[in-house]
Amino acid sequence: MFGVIDSGIGGLTVWREVVKLLPGEDIVYYADSANCPYGNRTKEEITTLTDAIVGKLIDRGVGLIVLACNTMTAAAVTYLREKYPHILFVGMEPAVKPAVQITKSNVIGILATRATLSGEHYHRTVDSFRPRVEIVEQAGEGLVEFIERGEVDSPQCRSLIRSYIDPMVARGADCVVLGCTHYPFLVPVITDIYGKGLVIVDPAAAVARRVMELARTHGLIENSKPCHQFLTSGSKEDLQHIISLGNTLLRS
Ligand code: SIN
Repeated sequence: MFGVIDSGIGGLTVWREVVKLLPGEDIVYYADSANCPYGNRTKEEITTLTDAIVGKLIDRGVGLIVLACNTMTAAAVTYLREKYPHILFVGMEPAVKPAVQITKSNVIGILATRATLSGEHYHRTVDSFRPRVEIVEQAGEGLVEFIERGEVDSPQCRSLIRSYIDPMVARGADCVVLGCTHYPFLVPVITDIYGKGLVIVDPAAAVARRVMELARTHGLIENSKPCHQFLTSGSKEDLQHIISLGNTLLRS
């Protein structure tokens, strides 16, 4: 059994890619809706929250856990790998490398949470591409809240998106890396505002491929009639929302 965890609904964008690649596997999705968002919390808080979820999933028998949240990965993946050496962890990283291969202007925008942008691993990755490529970082304050409320197409959310991406485009960025698993829900709006000229880079499919590789190597593939479970620390309404969004994503 695999686990996919996030602060809220964002990890469903990764869950969808994992289900597509591994349709015969049992997967439990956990959304920490009661504590969402994580993006402005301290590293210690994020690690404690993530560790508590990981403990619950291990009790249910998962062998591989996808930290489908850049913020969790930046804060807690090293700690978790040390604490649970018998569990496989797959984390998220902002997809800077694919963006470097795509950009023609050599200017890349990165939109992520404050906690992700301050992570050590993130800095090492980004610094390895500088100064060859100019990187324009932006913390997407407030976006996760709009996404969780399903208000991505509201004038307020559109204007927040513009306030973050307009400066990247003004500096010459021709692609923007989505460094938070919630942000793929903004793709239709971003494309509507900026057109196809701005390439949006989402690492979800690459992460799912990594999950498949690891699961194969460690003999975790069961390929049977799958059972998909959804859990949340939030309300019954949150759970209904997660399940219906999961179904919608699988159909899209
Ligand atoms: C958040 O909870 O603030 C977003 C999580 C992420 O980085 O994917």
